[in-house]
Amino acid sequence: MKTETTIQGLSASLSPARSARKIIGFVPTMGNLHEGHLNLVREARKLCDVVVVSIFVNPIQFGPNEDFENYPRTLEQDSRLLADVGCDIVFAPTVEQMYGNKPRFTNISVSDITNDLCGLQRPGHFDGVAVVVTKLFNIVQPNFAFFGQKDYQQLAVIRQFVRDLNIPLEVIGVPITRAEDGLALSSRNGYLTEEQRKIAPTIFQSLKAAEQELHNGVSLVEVLENIKHTLTQVGFIVDYVEARTPELQKIEEFNQNVILFIAAKLGTTRLIDNLQVKQTV
Ligand code: PAJ
Repeated sequence: MKTETTIQGLSASLSPARSARKIIGFVPTMGNLHEGHLNLVREARKLCDVVVVSIFVNPIQFGPNEDFENYPRTLEQDSRLLADVGCDIVFAPTVEQMYGNKPRFTNISVSDITNDLCGLQRPGHFDGVAVVVTKLFNIVQPNFAFFGQKDYQQLAVIRQFVRDLNIPLEVIGVPITRAEDGLALSSRNGYLTEEQRKIAPTIFQSLKAAEQELHNGVSLVEVLENIKHTLTQVGFIVDYVEARTPELQKIEEFNQNVILFIAAKLGTTRLIDNLQVKQTV
């Protein structure tokens, strides 16, 4: 496995693969890798000849009071994990390498989808993601790019600008990887105290309970209220509990497949999760 820290170095490393028309798979990450990330790499390994993983903590997607400075940076450990799952090239650029030292005047803003859910709580966040992912797509020029359904709204934003801007690659969404107790794996889980870590699986438990209630005919409004109540009772500060269609349209009744979305804080750690509940007729 090779590690490249410059755009030029990465291009040189990928050049033989491009000439040989090999299928290039790309997994963008911010590092501090866990099984969720590694499953994206495994998926890429199945479909592609060459697998590139980027590790870049992207400053422009963090809000002023978010954890950019403290975001865990564990490149050595990440590299070992990536080598084990068959990654070919790690791209780990500096902020200067990605953004240069001249001002940036271009933004990529995906309207509609971003004025909702996490977009409301984190203004500018998805623009920052769209810009960095576009830059990375242009640098790596992959055939396939892999993203987790854990960040469902992020995946939707990326699918949308890839389609809108005719970016020549295919986006693949990969299901959520969970701990045994159901907690969706996340780099931010590492911020939880031991006690908070025990409470955190309530998010997934409340989603599963909601699924059961919906199938038992409880109304969508009531189900969402029940989730909020359960989470608040065990100590979460709820950011939102919402239901949307798979295309992220608002939905009032459980009359088609629905995705339940949760964002909630335990102390200062904000956790997100979602579950698709299928209409079974
Ligand atoms: P990061 O949070 O490191 O996540 C990288 C990728 O791993 C994302 O596609 C995310 O959805 C996926 N992922 C994280 N936890 C997962 C889990 N438990 N199951 C399945 N997939 C999971 O998302 C980002 O980085 C950044 O916004 C990025 C896209 C790299 C742009 O900076």
